[in-house]
Amino acid sequence: MKSTFGKNLTVALFGESHGPAIGAVIDGLAPGIPLDPAHIRRQLDLRRAGANAALSTARQEADEFEILSGWFNEHTTGTPLTILIRNQQTRSGDYAKTKDLLRPGHADYTAYAKYGGWQDYRGGGHFSGRLTAPIVAAGAICEQILAAHGITLGTHLAECAGIADAPLPADETALKAAIAKVNAKPFAVLDDAAGEKMQQAILAAKSELDSVGGILETAVVGMPPGIGEPFFNSVESVLAHLIFSVPAVKGVEFGAGFGFAQMRGSEANDPFRMAGERIVTQSNNNGGVNGGISNGMPIVFRTVIKPTPSIYQPQQTVDISRHEDATLQIQGRHDPAIIHRARPVIDAVVALGLVDLFCEAYGTGWQANI
Ligand SMILES: Cc1cc2nc3c(=O)[nH]c(=O)nc-3n(C[C@H](O)[C@H](O)[C@H](O)COP(=O)(O)O)c2cc1C
Repeated sequence: MKSTFGKNLTVALFGESHGPAIGAVIDGLAPGIPLDPAHIRRQLDLRRAGANAALSTARQEADEFEILSGWFNEHTTGTPLTILIRNQQTRSGDYAKTKDLLRPGHADYTAYAKYGGWQDYRGGGHFSGRLTAPIVAAGAICEQILAAHGITLGTHLAECAGIADAPLPADETALKAAIAKVNAKPFAVLDDAAGEKMQQAILAAKSELDSVGGILETAVVGMPPGIGEPFFNSVESVLAHLIFSVPAVKGVEFGAGFGFAQMRGSEANDPFRMAGERIVTQSNNNGGVNGGISNGMPIVFRTVIKPTPSIYQPQQTVDISRHEDATLQIQGRHDPAIIHRARPVIDAVVALGLVDLFCEAYGTGWQANI
């Protein structure tokens, strides 16, 4: 029963949605990395409900963070770095009323099955999307390490409620500019008109006591070739492990992904060519990874985020204390869509996974070798 990930760089999550605080301990950071807390603040703000207030839960947490250890004179010390975020807007009474009624699509039943009823059910406890705040903070540290090595990443809402954003450009320079563009927006779309329609669709679902999902598309630019292990710690398997750790993620595809099923080899292969001294590929159907190892092209993947499980319509369920069928009328405050808030979470886990893989290739010292 663990909430820890990583080999060279490990992240342990702690806390519950309605407990005093949530946080993360990041171990395996090199000493002497200059860290800008403003970037952590910025990423946390992108995840905060306040960034898109009408589209998000009414629970508006400030997500003020404290670095309790591992950071001194604006640099990492190399000892475990602890980030703490206090919960301030809990309203646990909402959950007491329905604590025995399992929310369909949420982790109430599976948490009960695993923890035998000892889990903190308030606000979803340790299984709440709230625990993604410390993940974002930890990832924001890794994003800075990657940026110092010329590697940038970003995620846009490729689709929400069936409405598509403009596609990410294939050309690397244009892709980098597109990432910078979406990174600067609270609602991460390339096409503002599509973004407006998505927001209306989220509000429409909310007014119908329902929720919507969508697809996030992420690109990592500036990866050198040769990172990742051939089998079990391939770039795809490490990133997919982390991406599937984000609540509400139900699918990931790299490059052309499931589209490969309709292709022939002649269409699917990415032909190589020289670009000055660099070996590049003409297309990027493989999403920047061959044989589990980065090939130097952008790492591109898509993530499906399901509709928020906690909806306000009456739902068929079971009362776990009585072992009887029941009707659930959800209380508490919930997001009518998760996708816009999950976007910095995906960036965070990707940064964590890539730093772990870089350390596997070059050792922990690589992080500060900038
Ligand atoms: C940023 C974020 C916010 C979320 N907000 C809510 C929410 O308000 N209500 C809810 O029921 N689920 C929310 N979720 C999703 C649940 O945590 C998730 O669906 C649940 O833990 C079950 O896990 P699974 O969907 O991965 O199977 C959120 C997830 C994320 C990443």
